[in-house]
Amino acid sequence: MKLKGANVLVTGGAGFIGSWIAETLADKNNVRILDALITGKKQNIPEGVEFIKGDVRNAGDVRAAVKGVDIVFHQAANVQIPLSIEDPVFDSDVNVRGTLNVMEACRKSGVKRVVYASSSALYGNPEKIPTPETCYPDPLSPYGTSKMAGEYYTKVYSSLYGLETVSLRYFNVYGPRQNPDSPYSGVLSIFSKNIKEKRSLTVFGDGRQRRDFVNVRDVVEANILAATADGVSGEAFNIGTGIAVSINEIISMLGKIAGKNLDVMYSERRQGDARKSCADTRKAREELGFSPKIGLEEGLRELLQS
Ligand code: UD1
Repeated sequence: MKLKGANVLVTGGAGFIGSWIAETLADKNNVRILDALITGKKQNIPEGVEFIKGDVRNAGDVRAAVKGVDIVFHQAANVQIPLSIEDPVFDSDVNVRGTLNVMEACRKSGVKRVVYASSSALYGNPEKIPTPETCYPDPLSPYGTSKMAGEYYTKVYSSLYGLETVSLRYFNVYGPRQNPDSPYSGVLSIFSKNIKEKRSLTVFGDGRQRRDFVNVRDVVEANILAATADGVSGEAFNIGTGIAVSINEIISMLGKIAGKNLDVMYSERRQGDARKSCADTRKAREELGFSPKIGLEEGLRELLQS
């Protein structure tokens, strides 16, 4: 399968990762976006891209959006772990039922392949770090559970109905356009906004929790590889860098780049927060040919400048 002249749907295409995928593909493909604009923003929608305002929770909206489409990048989701703890039903409606609506519509309309945004959150606190895909999933939150359920649905649609599906277990994705406006937003989007606005940073817990931060441009590349690779249907791949950095280390890197000591406050550890998360990247490298290119320092520099 080639990604040129294809009819592509990006669910959640007005959001952070989805808008990067849509923008990158819009050059050589016919791209359509389905987004309910709950957390996504109209200004993220790239020019020349068709936009349907609709919700993955609504099967009719999804059916209309997949008409004539070859490849779907299913990015629409609740991505906020604390929100899933506050409102697990909302999280499940979007992430489980929404995914099921997408899979059903794709099965019935002859879509060739679906690339699903899964999450490393399904591992919880895994036994092995770096964590290979074979590690037993043991989520710590409704979010990790709903992402796992969505992933397993995509796998079953591959084996039962022959719809090609590939799941990408994103680790901590960061980069420009990640929305910093909720207290539950991605940590780097919040930290970079606060530094620019000369406000203090809050660390939840002791700051020694580690995350594998992967740049959104590399994640776009992973999606393109997943959409085009042969022999990977029904498979799941870790999308990370294989390097885990603590929140305290991130703060000293940001301080160095900003050229000043940052004002930091420590607050209570968050419920459902994993201690350490780090991808074993071998499977993605060997089977998709994925190798992340953007180093953390370069990525952080860009964030502070954007
Ligand atoms: C993130 C993603 C989730 C994804 C998962 C993959 C978001 C909002 N969450 O969850 O969708 O599936 O990675 O593993 O993109 N923290 C602070 N101060 C802050 C904000 C956060 O100390 O102001 C801490 C958190 O407690 C956590 C770490 O930073 O320990 C990362 O938090 P966050 O960016 O929310 O990501 P995850 O919870 O890892």
